Amino acid sequence: MTAPTLAGKRVLVTAGPTFEDIDPVRYLANRSSGKMGFAIAEAAATAAAEVVLIAGPSQCQLQNPAIRRVDVRSALQMLDAVMSHIQGIDVFIACAAVADYRPATLVDEKIKKSGPRMQLELLRNPDILANVAALPQAPFTVGFAAETGTVEAHAMHKLKQKRIHMIAANCVADGQGFDRSDNRLLLLFADGRRHNLGLQSKTALARELITVIATELKSAATSAASKPGRPSTVNA
Ligand code: C5P
Repeated sequence: MTAPTLAGKRVLVTAGPTFEDIDPVRYLANRSSGKMGFAIAEAAATAAAEVVLIAGPSQCQLQNPAIRRVDVRSALQMLDAVMSHIQGIDVFIACAAVADYRPATLVDEKIKKSGPRMQLELLRNPDILANVAALPQAPFTVGFAAETGTVEAHAMHKLKQKRIHMIAANCVADGQGFDRSDNRLLLLFADGRRHNLGLQSKTALARELITVIATELKSAATSAASKPGRPSTVNA
């Protein structure tokens, strides 16, 4: 059986870390490389989707020239870029490791050292994924949960809290997951279904993830079409 495609679908992917500037030379960052999100964008394009990739600072390069890449630096810039591209999107995949907090003030001049302690005030960043999932015309939303402890319970909690369709959970303890070329993912759905995608390259994982998403869209469209009076779209 051939894998279902995403032909005619528009997919928006976030990837990489965000950098939260403190002053002109310093910032808060994390260990995300962007590899998984870039691989997902490539896999979606290979599955015939029209793809926009919103990328935080990353060394990764795209192979497929058809993918539209929008580079951003901070979480607020990523939110802006996502919201200005969300119209008409069928699938939103939030793979970026968005910083939870940003410095409360951006200082224009390099901060000089003074006493033995300094305090940095941080503000909570908006949750991009939850914002997209709350839109009236929300696309099929997929989140990622990088956890170091009880992966499945935490991921399930996030899926419900953010009201998304599917979450891809992975363990980032002991150097797994971040800045590597391989990974394993546990895909969880709100209705309790699950798919285990075993250890493999991020390229292969991304292809499997896209196949699962395409299958979901296809079965949602089929069941909507079989109910009289229902539109055959897969928008939630
Ligand atoms: O809550 P947590 O950061 O663990 O959630 C991870 C998921 O939420 C990822 O899919 C990530 O891309 C997304 N996220 C987001 N905006 C944030 C924080 C997380 O889109 N500010």
